[in-house]
Amino acid sequence: MPKVSVDDRELEVPSGTRLTIAIQQAGIEIGHRCGGKARCTTCRVVVHEGEPPAMTRAEYHRLREAGLLGSHRLSCQLVVAADMRVATVMTKQNQPWADTGPALDPSVVPEARWFEPGELEAENTA
Ligand code: FES
Repeated sequence: MPKVSVDDRELEVPSGTRLTIAIQQAGIEIGHRCGGKARCTTCRVVVHEGEPPAMTRAEYHRLREAGLLGSHRLSCQLVVAADMRVATVMTKQNQPWADTGPALDPSVVPEARWFEPGELEAENTA
């Protein structure tokens, strides 16, 4: 099983686990205020190792709009397929939230189709 190192914690999760859920399973109350629909960016992480190059169209557009493309990834739009080391940004501990967001679907939404680097950029400039 792939290993996920997140902040100061580490765990193994089945391949295909949504990254936000893996982070929650590590005991970290990461934000997911839009319910994992690639709208809020509160689930964003910095990926230090094991960053999957492919991303969903929804993640690409949201990160681009927010000026976060290239520096962050949306954990709700990623699944764990290999060892990763990530750092969270927004958690219940550092935000004034009463809760972190609605329960997450175990699957990536709104679409679970990943694109290779350059495909979405090319589409965006076409
Ligand atoms: S949970 Fe809102 S963008 Fe990921």
